[in-house]
Amino acid sequence: MNTFGIEASAKLFSIIRDENDIKTVLKGNENEPIFILGGGSNILFTEDFDGLVIKNEIQGFEIIKENKNFAIIESGAGEVWHEFVLKCIDKNLGGIENLSLIPGNVGASPMQNIGAYGVEIKDVFEYLDAYHIKDKKMRRFNAQDCKFGYRESVFKNELKGQYIICKVAFRLTKTHTLKTSYGAIENELHDMKKSNPSIKDVSNAVINIRQAKLPDPKKIGNAGSFFKNPIVSTELLNKIQSKYADIPNYPASHNQVKLAAGWLIEKAGWKGRTYENRYGVHKLQALVLVNYNQSKGDEILELSTLIIDDVKSKFNITLEREVNIL
Ligand code: FAD
Ligand code: EPU
Repeated sequence: MNTFGIEASAKLFSIIRDENDIKTVLKGNENEPIFILGGGSNILFTEDFDGLVIKNEIQGFEIIKENKNFAIIESGAGEVWHEFVLKCIDKNLGGIENLSLIPGNVGASPMQNIGAYGVEIKDVFEYLDAYHIKDKKMRRFNAQDCKFGYRESVFKNELKGQYIICKVAFRLTKTHTLKTSYGAIENELHDMKKSNPSIKDVSNAVINIRQAKLPDPKKIGNAGSFFKNPIVSTELLNKIQSKYADIPNYPASHNQVKLAAGWLIEKAGWKGRTYENRYGVHKLQALVLVNYNQSKGDEILELSTLIIDDVKSKFNITLEREVNIL
């Protein structure tokens, strides 16, 4: 149940399919540590879980409101994200086509404000309903309440572990503004000979790029980018540029730039390194740590610490992990 393919077990395990299930499952387990599991695509288990794992399989797809320009769609947290994207595209609803093929479930999408190719979930987010485990109450969160940031939300920080996200609603368009300015998307659409692309074409372009770049978890265990791309001062960028003029960098807030962690890790010499033929740094994408065969979560965690220390000593940048460590 985790895309890293790490073996770990839970003392207690339950599946929830609706809000009533939550109450039933929690009854009598009030004092257990609780972990909510979606598709398991952003988790590294380093040990067994001595508590209750609740797998969220709440389904549902409903158009709540619509006019000629937009529609508000509510989705159950347990729906598979990519299938949700495809269903919306089939109904000519746009805004999430750039987020095609991101693994995992709809319920986890606000957790780290999933993003790819110039779009983040916050751009289309309307609200979510989440159940407070201790207070036993449902609460509605709007975008402001969620405190979205780059791979961040309130649920990864001050409200960590407190809520079960049950439903998420998105505001999607019927007349679309495509976001194709990412170089790779433009090139792919060009190769696909799509001069006037639809949202389906953009989705297909993103799928092609992702399949070429990222290892398929069904074949090689991984959780996507293991680290976040660091945001640093332009002063530090200038310093690094004096040695490496070609360092990729993207404007962030005032006097700050986002760097590519994959580039830093590659330049530090880690790309493709493999240990005991079991785990290592992916050959094509240095930002992705991989489990080739029966590795343990703590081995991968230790590798990530070595990488963090080395990048710090070479570039004076402290990489932060994106993956949730358990
Ligand atoms: P899980 O891994 O099951 O859980 C992640 C966290 O969310 C855990 O802390 C869990 O407790 C919590 N959680 C999950 N569901 C709920 C819920 N209903 N209520 C409360 N808490 C919950 N991410 C990106 O942003 N962009 C990408 O481009 C991207 N590419 C990826 C590519 C690959 C090959 C892989 C393997 C991963 C990639 N990811 C990417 C990371 C991952 O797909 C996302 O973080 C995704 O949203 C995780 O969903 P999940 O359902 O698998 O969550
Ligand atoms: N690069 C290298 N070496 C590498 C990998 C990348 O030099 O081994 C360079 C690339 O050449 C490029 C730059 O780094 O110049 C950025 O690479 P890429 O466009 O592949 O994106 P990324 O920074 O590696 C981020 C997200 C991905 C998301 C893509 C597309 C983060 C942490 N990662 O990856 O999200 O899909 O952009 O938008 O922000 C995830 O979060 O799990 C994830 C996969």
